[in-house]
Order: sequence, then structure tokens, then C-alpha cells
Amino acid sequence: MHPDIERILISAEDIQAKICELGRQISRDYADVKEVLLIGVLKGCVMFIVDLARQIDVPITLDFIAISSYGQSTESSGVVRLLKDLDTDITGRHVLIVEDIIDSGLTLAYLQSQLERRQPASMRICALLNKPERRIADVHVDYRGFGIPNEFVVGYGLDFGEHYRNLPYIGVLKPEIYAQTST
Ligand code: IMP
Ligand code: MG
Repeated sequence: MHPDIERILISAEDIQAKICELGRQISRDYADVKEVLLIGVLKGCVMFIVDLARQIDVPITLDFIAISSYGQSTESSGVVRLLKDLDTDITGRHVLIVEDIIDSGLTLAYLQSQLERRQPASMRICALLNKPERRIADVHVDYRGFGIPNEFVVGYGLDFGEHYRNLPYIGVLKPEIYAQTST
């Protein structure tokens, strides 16, 4: 285990098993649709979206959007900025937003309101992790991986200051690691 990790919350095997389940569910729900557009929210989504895409057996296309909410902090500022827009026009498309984690929900609420204006045929949300205790914005998550307690986690795409994204599991970061950089 990485020395900055206090404990493993979700193992690599459990992540993959959950993704298989989610992929089956999504494939079933979209069986009658010509194509689904998976929209990954960079950069936290990357590990999740590529593994999820391989478990979906209906036609898909991929696009990515980048928004900033946190910077170096572990708390959502509520201020969301669009860093990279989609390459494709989503009007009339079946859109599935793929997120790493829903915490306050502020990022997702912003994204949803922006994308709804472009009038997709449908829009659903898939999130690997969910911290229900911290919810501020009222967002509906259609496909959920794991509910987790209110602790700061890293790994499998999730970062702290851009680090730890490559860990194959989801782990709780030792509090002294973020205490060091918070001042
Ligand atoms: P929200 O706007 O508070 O829902 O925050 C969503 C974004 O904050 C996620 O897409 C993550 O990038 C980041 N985030 C929230 N909680 C964590 C965490 O525990 N570890 C790493 N990133 C997190
Ligand atoms: Mg994110």
C-alpha cells in the first residue's frame, strides 16, 4: 500500500465487479437506443470511463469536458469554471455523464444546467462514488457505484493536488498529508 494512504476503502477487484454490474445495467437500459454518448468529466473520470465503456455492449461514442471546482483544497468552493468544452454537439443525443465522485453536488448541478440548454434527447448521470452526507445541490444520480463516508479519498483517477490518480484502489488519504498543504 502507498505510504500516504491510511486504509483501502474499495479494492481494485470490488471496483471492477461494480463496473461490470453498472455496464450490464446501462446496456439493458439503452438497448433500444441507436447510440449513447458517454461524457467524461476530466480528469477524475478517466480510469472509470475506460473500464465502464468496455462493459457496455450497445454502441457508444466518447467525449470529455473539463471543469474546475477545487484547485488544491479538499472542499468544494461552489465556484465552477469550464476549462474544456465538448468537441461534439449533443443536441438530440442520448447523453450519459460519467463522474468519479459526487460530493456537494455543485459541480454536477452546474454541468447539468449547462448541458440541458443544448437540448439532448436524454441525459443521465453515472457516478462511481457518492458522499451523500455532504450533498448541498439536489442532483439525481441514475447509476451509482459505491456510497462512501465523508472522508477524503484518492486513487483510481481521484487525486489530491494531481497525485495518487494511478493507485488501482480507492483509499483514504492520511489527514496529515492534506494538513501539510492547507495553509
Ligand atoms: P462536488 O462539486 O463537491 O460534488 O465535487 C465534485 C468533484 O470534487 C469531484 O468530481 C472530484 O473531482 C472532487 N472531489 C470530491 N470529493 C473528493 C475526494 O474525496 N477525493 C478526491 N476528489 C474529490
Ligand atoms: Mg471530478
